[in-house]
Amino acid sequence: MTKRVAIIGAGPSGLAQLRAFQSAAAKGEDVPEIVCFEKQDNWGGLWNYTWRTGLDEYGEPVHGSMYRYLWSNGPKEGLEFADYSFEEHFGKQIASYPPRAVLFDYIEGRVNKAGVRDKIRFSTAIRNIEFANGKFTVTAHDLPHDRVYDEEFDNVIVCTGHFSTPNVPQFDGFESFQGRVLHAHDFRDAMEFKGKDILIVGTSYSAEDIGSQCWKYGAKSITVSHRTAPMGYDWPDNWAEVPLLTRVDGNTAYFKDGTSREIDAIILCTGYKHHFPFLPDSLRLKTANRLAAADLYKGVAFVPNPALFYVGMQDQWFTFNMFDAQAWWVRDAIMGRLDVPADRDARHADVVARVAAEDAGEDDYAAIRFQGAYVQELIDETDYPSFNVDGAIDAFMKWKAHKKTNIMTFRDNSYVSVITGTMAPVHHTPWKDALDDSLEAYLKN
Ligand SMILES: Cc1cc2nc3c(=O)[nH]c(=O)nc-3n(C[C@H](O)[C@H](O)[C@H](O)COP(=O)(O)OP(=O)(O)OC[C@H]3O[C@@H](n4cnc5c(N)ncnc54)[C@H](O)[C@@H]3O)c2cc1C
Ligand SMILES: NC(=O)c1ccc[n+]([C@@H]2O[C@H](COP(=O)([O-])OP(=O)(O)OC[C@H]3O[C@@H](n4cnc5c(N)ncnc54)[C@H](OP(=O)(O)O)[C@@H]3O)[C@@H](O)[C@H]2O)c1
Repeated sequence: MTKRVAIIGAGPSGLAQLRAFQSAAAKGEDVPEIVCFEKQDNWGGLWNYTWRTGLDEYGEPVHGSMYRYLWSNGPKEGLEFADYSFEEHFGKQIASYPPRAVLFDYIEGRVNKAGVRDKIRFSTAIRNIEFANGKFTVTAHDLPHDRVYDEEFDNVIVCTGHFSTPNVPQFDGFESFQGRVLHAHDFRDAMEFKGKDILIVGTSYSAEDIGSQCWKYGAKSITVSHRTAPMGYDWPDNWAEVPLLTRVDGNTAYFKDGTSREIDAIILCTGYKHHFPFLPDSLRLKTANRLAAADLYKGVAFVPNPALFYVGMQDQWFTFNMFDAQAWWVRDAIMGRLDVPADRDARHADVVARVAAEDAGEDDYAAIRFQGAYVQELIDETDYPSFNVDGAIDAFMKWKAHKKTNIMTFRDNSYVSVITGTMAPVHHTPWKDALDDSLEAYLKN
């Protein structure tokens, strides 16, 4: 095949895409030439931990948003690769909420086995992409050699993630606040906040998890300020949920209900932006963080130009296995094994239907089922190994119930693998007492 395909990013989505093409090649199929560009010096995306914040050694915005002591916030049984189980990787079944280093090892194990590393140009940032005469011109910057060059491709697959460019609101008084103000993207170590009174703005996963980390590692108090609604868990005694922050004066934070609190630091857990500075208007995805992303036929093919694909742009209940399902589908579309409608209106109609179906759901349970059905739909159209998607949905439902029962113990539960059918062992130490998040400590079961 003479086609050339560019994959931008070697996080879980980009690696899924590399594995998808490699699995077809391993079956003797004629696959396109693949080049993956990754601006970091290693793969793994967000799972490739960095101590850096702000700009990196080349002046690039640091991609990493993960922090020390981060454990999976959902059960691993909901994300397990259908072609590479945890038991295959670790030689045994492991507990259900692995820390970051354990999941990084698992992600890396599959692509090491597939032998795709030589397809990746590391430390290479994509600067620009143009489309003309049926070809994409991709401008890449080889950072260590400070060399900018162009190459032509027939297809581009954008796998650059969307939890890296922070959404940073302004509140009155920040400029004269006496403590530190940071966004979750720059949070690295809860120990920094030991003994401190911290204020968190936002009520989603970053707020819940960064607050829990700070609690676990000894913050004096955690106050969480909400714009829409409180999280409503049964929090420990030194937690409080308060209405939206209105202003800060010195070290005093004032809230919408007229109450105030003394605080030492403010952590904005206010989400992220889909940000593609390397794409012109005509190719750039503009979407809210939702399950039915705007402008993506089947959630992956860009409606205005279906030679361009995006993987992993949805909000995420399902992660690794959804990226896989998308990557297998994109591969088959590029290899002409699946049809993307030639008619733009037909592609758009698919998006409209997905948006309506998502909007018809009333709660998180409906959202989980919606995304599970999407994963199943893509798997049914490709040769990605089929797995029990309903079983993964079931793990998510149990996870939500466990969080309601006790938000500080939900990670002590275990679930059944939908790939191997094995029940995960109970972890040797309750999450709240497990201060060492290393791979070695976790695997000592
Ligand atoms: C704090 C945090 C915790 C999370 N925890 C979990 C969890 O517990 N479980 C879970 O399943 N999911 C979790 N997630 C969700 C996470 O989005 C996915 O697990 C996964 O990392 C997404 O993979 P991705 O490849 O789409 O994006 P990313 O992991 O973001 O990878 C994108 C890659 O693209 C590269 N890139 C970006 N721009 C360019 C460019 N211009 N040129 C070249 N390369 C570029 C980046 O360097 C990066 O390597 C978490 C997210 C965050 C922010
Ligand atoms: N341990 C872990 O595994 C872990 C930890 C952290 C994050 N994550 C992952 O990271 C991803 C991103 O999660 P996230 O929580 O960072 O983002 P998110 O889910 O997009 O949530 C953004 C939050 O910010 C609030 N917000 C936005 N703008 C605001 C403003 N101007 N004022 C006040 N509040 C504002 C939103 O409130 P409204 O509800 O009012 O809109 C919402 O609560 C998720 O996939 C999550 O699973 C995982």
